[in-house]
This record gives sequence, structure tokens and C-alpha cells, in this order.
Amino acid sequence: MKWFETAKPLLCLSPMADFTDRPFCRLVRELDNQTVLFREMLAAEALVRANQRTLMMADLDEIERPVVQQLFGSDPERMAQAAELVERQFKPDGIDINMGCPVYKAVSNFNGASLMREPERAAAIVKSVKNAISIPLSVKTRLGWSKPDEILEFIKVLDAAGADAVEVHGRTKTQAYAGQADWEAVGQAVKEVSIPVLVNGDITDPESAKSALDKSAAAGILIARGALGRPWVFKRIREYLETGKDSGEPGIEERLKIMRRHAQLQVEHYGENGLIQLRKHLPWYFKGIPAFRQYRAAAVRISTIDQLDALIDEIAANEKIALGE
Ligand SMILES: Cc1cc2nc3c(=O)[nH]c(=O)nc-3n(C[C@H](O)[C@H](O)[C@H](O)COP(=O)(O)O)c2cc1C
Repeated sequence: MKWFETAKPLLCLSPMADFTDRPFCRLVRELDNQTVLFREMLAAEALVRANQRTLMMADLDEIERPVVQQLFGSDPERMAQAAELVERQFKPDGIDINMGCPVYKAVSNFNGASLMREPERAAAIVKSVKNAISIPLSVKTRLGWSKPDEILEFIKVLDAAGADAVEVHGRTKTQAYAGQADWEAVGQAVKEVSIPVLVNGDITDPESAKSALDKSAAAGILIARGALGRPWVFKRIREYLETGKDSGEPGIEERLKIMRRHAQLQVEHYGENGLIQLRKHLPWYFKGIPAFRQYRAAAVRISTIDQLDALIDEIAANEKIALGE
């Protein structure tokens, strides 16, 4: 079954560089067995040159399925070679192409969001990658470069070139992350094509998920920042969409347990260095706890499991909760 046929509506972990790696994807999977996991973007060039670090980043765990690997690049031939290599070697359930990243490093190299300004190159990439792989091909993009209706033409270009699905972040490149994601504008794009279109941007809880789906009539949602420190968000939303009941956010005890599990997965995957790499995730777990600042300051110095356990004990004592085994 294709990844975009696995559930209705589709709930997806949106790709995030440095965040949606193997341990985090596995953690999200342990908390919900249907979420579609988008791995962080990888440079097609680095894959083709057999850069060992990049190849390791494409390695996946069977438990992660359905899982999609995102690639970025600007050359149709190199993109096709990278996609073929990733399919053959790591067998993800789909390949996704980044056509939405607004950062200078991407757009100055004619990839990411700049592909929206070069529809011919974008189409050539889609065609060439599509020919090279047998798994589904999707594209993640934005409403436009500077105008929010550019997507109406661009999505037709992607569809005609052979994309099997498109994910649209409801902002333009110029907006970057400013303002509010426009889910209705994504809905206009949904009407232009018959392939599944997913909506992304500012979805963080059951209410925003429902509103984004209602306003866009999209086939599903992608959540990025709303999943940081909140890997349970997909289960919470799924339950709400299925039953109308919102279980709310887990209590501090549950949150700390999940954070501890994240740390364990980090160490299993990255070795001792895993906790240093976990530092960027930790502050997100403390959001909403009154003494947030104090814990965040301690979290960014953690380098061993013992130090993390000591911090968890301190938080438990301060917040007057008993942590089970
Ligand atoms: C830290 C970070 C890294 C990101 N990396 C990627 C990436 O690798 N590929 C991509 O297509 N989008 C990337 N994005 C964009 C997100 O996938 C998403 O489109 C955007 O954050 C809007 O969704 P949100 O409001 O749920 O965060 C990244 C966003 C953040 C915050």
C-alpha cells in the first residue's frame, strides 16, 4: 500500500533538518503506529558522492514504516541517481523532494523554494526521479515564492510531471515563518489536481488539525514544530478525529518518561554523543512547565544519561511527582 493510502486523514511528521532522524522517528512511531514519518532532507549530491555521514542518515529501522526520505538538489540527473540509490539501499516507502526550503543556502543553489521560480527545472527533476524509482514520489512546497496563488499553477506542473502527492506549507518563501499559515489557500491548490495534497503549517493540536483539514479539504496534515518535545501529538489528534474526545497533553510524569525514552534511543543510535545531540530537543519537552527556564539551562549542559536522570529527579521533586520505573 502506498504511504498516502495508509490512513484517512493522513497524519505525518513533517521533515525537519537535524530533528527528524532515526531516534526521533522511532519515538514518534512507538507512540502512534500510523503516523507517516518524513525523514530530514538529505543532499542528493552528498548521497551520489557516497558521503558516509549522509548515507548513514538515510538508514532506517523497519519499525519506522511508513517512512519517506526527503532529498534536496537542483540537478535532475543527480537527484535521480540519489533517489535510485536510496530506494535500492534503504527501501523507504517514498521519496520526497524539497521544493520549499527558504534558507539562503538552499535557494542560492537553485534548490528548495527556488524551484518554485523555475517550474521547468522542477518538472524535469520530478520526471527524472520518477523514472528512476518504483516507490511513490512526493514534493513538499509552499504557496509560492512571493504570492500565495503561485501554487495554483505550480501544483499542476508537479502533477503533470508525475508527482504522486504534494505537501503544501501554507506560507510563501518570502514570508518564511512570519504570519499565519493560510490553510484556505492550500485548499485552493487541493482543487487544482486529483493527486493527494496535504496541508502543513501551524498545526499543533486537535483543534488546529481539524480546522486545517476543514478549511483545505486536504488528504492529511504534516506537523513539524508542534511535534518537537511533543511526539505524542499525532496520537492525541488521531483519537480526537476518530472519537471527538481530546485526551489533552500528558502530565509531566508521562512527558519526562517519553523524554527519557528519547534519550535511550539517542544513545542506542549515536552512542555517547547521542546526548549532546539530544540537547536541542530537551528544551521542547519542558515547554509549559513553570520552571521551564531553569530546566532548559540545565538541559543544554547534559552529556550523560546519569546527568539526565539527575535532572529528571530534580524536576520530579520540584514538581512533586513520583516517577515509576
Ligand atoms: C528546525 C526545522 C527544520 C526543518 N527542516 C526541513 C526539512 O528538512 N525539509 C522540509 O521540507 N522542511 C523543513 N522544515 C519545515 C517544516 O517541515 C514545516 O514545513 C514548517 O516548519 C511549517 O510547519 P509547522 O508549523 O508544523 O512547523 C523545517 C522546519 C524546522 C522548524
